Amino acid sequence: MGPVSTEPWWKSAVVYQIYPRSFADTNGDGVGDLAGVRAHLEHLVWLGVDAIWLSPFYRSPMADFGYDVADHCDVDPVFGTLDDFDALVADAHASGIKVIVDWVPNHTSDHHRWFVESRQGRTSAKRDWYVWRDPAPDGGPPNNWVAAFAPEPAWTYDEASGQYYLHCFLPEQPDLDWSNPEVEAAMHDVLRFWLDRGVDGFRMDVTHLIGKDPELADDPPEYLPIPHSALNDRPETHPLLRRIRTLLDAYPGDRMIVGEVYLLDTALVAPYYGDDDELHLSFNFPPLFTPWDATQWRAQIDKTVAELEPLSAWPTWVLSNHDNPRHRTRYDGDEGRARAAAVLLLGLRGTPFLYAGEELGLLDAEVPADRVVDPGGRDGCRAPIPWEPTLGHGWPGEPWLPFAPEAQTRSVADEKADPHSILHLYRRLLAARRGSEALQLGAQHMLAAPEGVVAWTRQTPAGDRRVVVVNFTDAVVRLEGTEALAASAHTTIEVASDGLGEGAAFTGALAPDQAVVLRPG
Ligand code: NOJ
Ligand code: CA
Repeated sequence: MGPVSTEPWWKSAVVYQIYPRSFADTNGDGVGDLAGVRAHLEHLVWLGVDAIWLSPFYRSPMADFGYDVADHCDVDPVFGTLDDFDALVADAHASGIKVIVDWVPNHTSDHHRWFVESRQGRTSAKRDWYVWRDPAPDGGPPNNWVAAFAPEPAWTYDEASGQYYLHCFLPEQPDLDWSNPEVEAAMHDVLRFWLDRGVDGFRMDVTHLIGKDPELADDPPEYLPIPHSALNDRPETHPLLRRIRTLLDAYPGDRMIVGEVYLLDTALVAPYYGDDDELHLSFNFPPLFTPWDATQWRAQIDKTVAELEPLSAWPTWVLSNHDNPRHRTRYDGDEGRARAAAVLLLGLRGTPFLYAGEELGLLDAEVPADRVVDPGGRDGCRAPIPWEPTLGHGWPGEPWLPFAPEAQTRSVADEKADPHSILHLYRRLLAARRGSEALQLGAQHMLAAPEGVVAWTRQTPAGDRRVVVVNFTDAVVRLEGTEALAASAHTTIEVASDGLGEGAAFTGALAPDQAVVLRPG
């Protein structure tokens, strides 16, 4: 039994992101499906995660692989049916796993019936559900906003009506106009649809983008060609979030919303928690973009604490997701670093988000030009999960993307059979968290440590205590004479990133790129 806490589940949970296309395929069409997720729940229970976040599985023409939603309240046939979804939720809940779904409120697919109706003409009843504007005096786009993925205008001209529509992503993803109360009501209905089906929460796509400048003023030219989706930070978003929060909090069972606030400064992210009346949690991406360097990581940790603590806002930590190169790839392919990073991620105060495959130490796939499918260049991190060492790796048909390098030796089956694998390290870390209220919820105190090392304690008022020490260097480091050594006196190595010395007394020395969780005794 782990510690009993009165805090909401999402503070102590470890969330595991599943990109359904790439997880597991049950019918041989090469695309992962909801039945595949359901078939592998046992693995997730074995691993010890508390919740899964499913990237979009809704009806979609797949221009952005599901982030272009054509029907928010139905499952795309490639992923299965609503019955498959219900069965997955039932089984997950029976296994003690919460289910979070992606909610994409800023834009829809251009195939969504709302947009089809909206583009019928200037007098369409749904015209003002989207952002339509007349051309600029020179006939060009109404403002200088840049779309994501390619440095192109965020506007597409509609010949028939002589107006442009806004799309901060692909032209196939027109932006909704959230200043229209009908849009807000319709998107609230989507939340209710999934809450009533039993989901435990939402990951809210591009949260910071839904409130827009009513004047649609130009972005500062010096920022261009940064896409508008990475710049938009408007007061109009906050009342919208408060009403979303009220809707969620009216449901029983601590339903949670975690926002993708893609603003690359934690000081800009923090306000999206509001006064504990907006997002429950927000992603904070600056650490994800931080290189494997002690000084820079320490600065990110300090900054996160400094920005969030005054708001009593609960942090999140993430190293990998479906939009960025996997962290092992970013850290030069070094498995030792990827392992130490796992200790870092799971030792910090806040809710950690894992991305399926990082527990296998996967690298990004090298995708040959003729197999590139994503307009945003993100195919590499979306390679299919290798389940078996055999040909096909447990995928009954050729998967939609090639496997990552080393799939042969990094399948789930292989790593499960090897107690020294990175998969087993993740499992031990998750077990250590479940067994320690200090690691789940305890206060965090940063310690003075030698150059190249970041160290901290986690402690509860009741006296549960852990020390986490991460060596970012490729040399042996001794803690001698530092606060970190004093704090780790009389401790035992509970988890070591390289598996060495677990259960033995900590000597004060760390191997290159080694990270440890220490417990008193
Ligand atoms: C963020 C999602 O994570 C990304 O995959 C998607 O392309 C954009 N939002 C647009 O929805
Ligand atoms: Ca399939």
